[in-house]
Amino acid sequence: MPIRQLKVSGVRNLQPLDLSLHSGVNFIYGPNGSGKTSILESIVLVAAGKSFRTSQLKHVLTHDADRIEIEMNVEDESLGECHLDSLRLKGGDHLLKLNGSVLTSQAEASHWLPVQVIDPTTFRLLSGSPEERRQFIDWGVFHVEHSFMEQWKTFRKQLKQRNSVLKQKEDEWLSVWTKGFIESALVIDQYRRDYLKRFKPEFERILAALDPDTKVQLAYYPGWDKDSELADVLERQQERDMVLGYTQAGPHRAELRIKVDKQPAAEILSRGQQKTVVAALKIAQGAMFQQESGRRTIYLVDDLASELDEKHRFALCKLLEDLKCQVFITSIDKEKLTDIWKPEDACLFHVEHGCVNQESF
Ligand SMILES: Nc1ncnc2c1ncn2[C@@H]1O[C@H](COP(=O)(O)OP(=O)(O)OP(=O)(O)O)[C@@H](O)[C@H]1O
Ligand SMILES: [Mg+2]
Repeated sequence: MPIRQLKVSGVRNLQPLDLSLHSGVNFIYGPNGSGKTSILESIVLVAAGKSFRTSQLKHVLTHDADRIEIEMNVEDESLGECHLDSLRLKGGDHLLKLNGSVLTSQAEASHWLPVQVIDPTTFRLLSGSPEERRQFIDWGVFHVEHSFMEQWKTFRKQLKQRNSVLKQKEDEWLSVWTKGFIESALVIDQYRRDYLKRFKPEFERILAALDPDTKVQLAYYPGWDKDSELADVLERQQERDMVLGYTQAGPHRAELRIKVDKQPAAEILSRGQQKTVVAALKIAQGAMFQQESGRRTIYLVDDLASELDEKHRFALCKLLEDLKCQVFITSIDKEKLTDIWKPEDACLFHVEHGCVNQESF
């Protein structure tokens, strides 16, 4: 799934760049504030339609610039080649094109660019809100089950309708919308259950390779009391739902609980251990995506050295090398990666004051 060519202008301090990338590892090094993370951020802007550093895109736009333009040529193992072009104007307008045709939804660009970020804030997947872990499961389901997106849209519509009926206190319509809500809720729930059932052994295998001393348990919470039927829970909570004006139980409240000895992993594990657990989750997701779709994930590893000792850095790189996927790694110093990647499998870039230059590996 490699990105072959990447053109960026208008992103933070980066000078307009046009890079020919390697399908193996692209190692980007340079001092603090030189623009390394901004290169990865540019890729994520197209892959996810948002930044992983800020919720406000105005901060990404280079001071005094009026537009962000990112173009890339992607070569996919099964989909073929494509050209993605994203244009964002200062006023907020956004135009996304695939092979010259305007896309009406972000999902199609995301479908072409399955990207996983492992960065110094990665631990937030453990300590952050349930929504982040729900999105983590859904990334996996979205990329392996083509019908998931449509089912998800149906579910959102049913939820919106039920909430609207609850707000208007329209008792007579409630049972109709509740029936539709339950039907689509159970479809979403089944997708997630099936996915996690296959995901768990993969995750355990990857974590054992990356950090054998850290043991965590994954438990799926569907968004309602797991020992009850959703219909019964909704009936029990109906009065309260009416008062609140929204549906309390359902797949919109699902979560992946990550525990160590029955305690939340975020409360027990060290920062480095949290990073290896999250990296294992993301690598397992890429491995499963590869097995089930024959396609590969692109990994963006920002600030490789942060929180990880040499042994864990090596193990992480080795797992990524085993996947034979495209990897971007940033670091302040040149790392000794020749033990893992052969020179012909890698490209080296040096960044200074927003200028990116290729060097020999
Ligand atoms: N909107 C903007 N316009 C211009 N420059 C910006 C903008 N936002 C941030 N910057 C600057 O751009 C640079 C972005 O750096 P980036 O975070 O990519 O650096 P880095 O090489 O990843 O550094 P570190 O090693 O500290 O992580 C910083 O020097 C920052 O001050
Ligand atoms: Mg950085």
